[in-house]
Amino acid sequence: MDLSPVARMAAVIDYHERSKHRLDRYAPSPGQLDWANQPDPFRRYAGVSRTLLPLAEPVTAVPTLDEALAGQVAPAPLTLAAVSRLLYDALAISAWKRAGSSRWAVRCNPSSGNLHPTEAYLLLPPLPGLGEEAGMYHYEVQDHALACRASLDAGSWSRLVHGLPDGGFLIALGSIPWREAWKYGERAYRYCQHDLGHALAQLACAAAALGWEASVLAGAGDDCIATLAGLFDHSGPEAEWPGALLALSPRPLPAGTGRRWLPALAALPETWAATMAGVPNRLSGEHASWPVIDEVALACRRESAPGQWTAASASVLPPELPPRPLPARQIFRSRRSAVEMDGERVLSGEAFVRLVAALLPQARAPWPALPWPVAVHPVFFLHRVRGFAPGVYLLLREPAARSGLQAALGRFPHWTELDEVALGLPLFRLAEGDLGRYAQIANCHQALAADGAFAVAMVAAFEPVLAAEGPAAYRRLFWEAGALGQVLYLEAEAAGMRGTGIGCYFDDVIHELLGITDRRFQSLYGFSVGAAVEDGRVGTEPAYPARSMA
Ligand SMILES: Cc1cc2nc3c(=O)[nH]c(=O)nc-3n(C[C@H](O)[C@H](O)[C@H](O)COP(=O)(O)O)c2cc1C
Repeated sequence: MDLSPVARMAAVIDYHERSKHRLDRYAPSPGQLDWANQPDPFRRYAGVSRTLLPLAEPVTAVPTLDEALAGQVAPAPLTLAAVSRLLYDALAISAWKRAGSSRWAVRCNPSSGNLHPTEAYLLLPPLPGLGEEAGMYHYEVQDHALACRASLDAGSWSRLVHGLPDGGFLIALGSIPWREAWKYGERAYRYCQHDLGHALAQLACAAAALGWEASVLAGAGDDCIATLAGLFDHSGPEAEWPGALLALSPRPLPAGTGRRWLPALAALPETWAATMAGVPNRLSGEHASWPVIDEVALACRRESAPGQWTAASASVLPPELPPRPLPARQIFRSRRSAVEMDGERVLSGEAFVRLVAALLPQARAPWPALPWPVAVHPVFFLHRVRGFAPGVYLLLREPAARSGLQAALGRFPHWTELDEVALGLPLFRLAEGDLGRYAQIANCHQALAADGAFAVAMVAAFEPVLAAEGPAAYRRLFWEAGALGQVLYLEAEAAGMRGTGIGCYFDDVIHELLGITDRRFQSLYGFSVGAAVEDGRVGTEPAYPARSMA
């Protein structure tokens, strides 16, 4: 494959276009599901030593969601129990579901089709109960355990994380596109990126509930992440691609860490790769081949380089809202997707304003963890929100984007400010009228786009961002959309409703609805928030039934 910058950009644009669902043709996919080869959702490494983590049930009323996300929690020291809690609240199984003879796990982080392509690797200093040396561990979701793949002496560890505060550590995320491609074919690469964005955001929120700071390291290239996480062996149909690298710390991260700081790979011993332990389990017996995914993954490879932009924008201050007595960890662990919404219940105006405010790029988690300039702006299709006329609304997350967005959303040149009802949020009404029926059609005919309180299209600055940052930015745009989705999930839960990510939508139908005629802006993700209709046939079982409570 031609890997020149021009060819890589062309490959990304080509992928984006061919992975669009269209009214007359869905993006290429297997059509029928090959159940015999359904990928194992749980990665395990053979030949490694394993530490079961204490189960960290969320019995505490504190911190509240608002305290946690606003950074008002006294930092917990870095201990094995705290790491366990972080993972338990971010990536662990939250329940097993059963219907008839089927049984499946759901997790704190959502995933398109519940297929879970995202894997996590932790680089930790020595911790009592885990290891006397620093080490690299794969997080085994199925058992809530850490599997040690490599150790590091004290000197190498301190050189590796030099510049991070005491107690600072790293989490690398990888992604296995085959898990998604098995069901979704070519569109799977997008879903992997959404899922990664959800996972990043939830890790940042769970860290905030421990009083910790977190930041994606925007400059960490794929080789850096692959080296740290031991992903250099992964090739073939079950290839695991490096995703993102996060720094976490009980003490404040120095300003600009996310843009500038990189781990010192030279500190790793020469034997690091050769002595890496663990043979990954095979996920499927046989595989269908989706070469386009390998092509776009190659085109989106990121080289290590500090971010070129000057600062992440946090330009609009959210309104002061009274705190809510909602335990953060219960919200994290009870987050679920609605499969069906009731088409009736009305969301209070206050809850809507809170939810919209939580989407602003601000000091509140997860936003400080995303170091890039803001690119994604949610467009709301309001159906049932008290005090707000049904219609199309937009949250301008970056004021400088206004003129570009106004020009691009050709159907809605006139924006009405909503100062009073929206408490000064940069929320605009673009048009009045309930577009529920259109939203349903545009979202692959899914009724939940019409039956909730509102649906969302996440409109991202697209070609200008790729041009400025390079083709790898394709991934981070979906991560930002996924992070917005995660906040919507949490806030929907806090409002007594439910959210559902919508990856299946007819891209250009959404664009036509908004008057978007070129690729300056593209809608990269959908969402719906509403009152869930529970399916009485599905039973719930504990997350880790074989384990005793800590
Ligand atoms: C990126 C993404 C896309 C999704 N797309 C859809 C969708 O189009 N329709 C739908 O009903 N659910 C969708 N979901 C919801 C998933 O099916 C759901 O997260 C998964 O089944 C796990 O269930 P849980 O969220 O309750 O843990 C999506 C979720 C994500 C993260």
